[in-house]
Amino acid sequence: MIVAVDGPAASGKGTLARAIARHYGVPHLDTGLLYRAVALCVARMELDPAVEADAVAACGFDEAVLADPALREDATGRTASIVSAHPLVRAALFQRQRRFAGQPGGAVLDGRDIGTVIAPEADAKLFVSATPRIRAQRRHAELKGRGGPTGPGPTGFDPNGFDPISFDRVLADIRARDQRDSARAAAPLAMAADAVLLDTSFLSIEAAVRKALDLVEARLSARR
Ligand code: C5P
Repeated sequence: MIVAVDGPAASGKGTLARAIARHYGVPHLDTGLLYRAVALCVARMELDPAVEADAVAACGFDEAVLADPALREDATGRTASIVSAHPLVRAALFQRQRRFAGQPGGAVLDGRDIGTVIAPEADAKLFVSATPRIRAQRRHAELKGRGGPTGPGPTGFDPNGFDPISFDRVLADIRARDQRDSARAAAPLAMAADAVLLDTSFLSIEAAVRKALDLVEARLSARR
């Protein structure tokens, strides 16, 4: 059983994917972490994320990086959306995701291209979305809640005193990320033809989880 959960940044896809994996007792992979790991290594190696060869050089990252808290920083997400546009970066990370999807007991993967490229044969596909403004509100609240600096550099803090967590900036960032992820030629963010759309804009987390589980269960039972 493979469940693909795709959608833009801060749509709630990670939370839903984790809940689905827990419900069915199967492993979950947040594929965004792989691109974030490449981004973090590019930054630490002082390479240029926009240069494909530089980004490819960071694809052999050490597994320990996957547990680095800096992966969760906004700046890392921004750089991830730059390195992820390179076809050779996507190719370098492809087999790992395929292997995860193909585990004997099944798996849940979330990302941008799971239903379209990584596991087009998935048994259930969700495309999770929410308006940019609502996604920005969630991201903004999360960043404020964390309390720490979340500015533009790989280490986060902007020495020029620029408010690192202004709402407008978070919204602009979400829009820029959507634009980059949707407009790229290689595996753009797109809803698979056989995916079900789940708009979480006006749903509580509990309601969104219930709805996601219902949609997945309906797909799985239709296949049984
Ligand atoms: O989901 P998350 O915000 O962690 O992803 C960071 C970036 O990694 C995204 O903006 C996107 O550019 C890229 N990504 C991708 N394909 C995936 C997962 C993430 O291109 N399957």
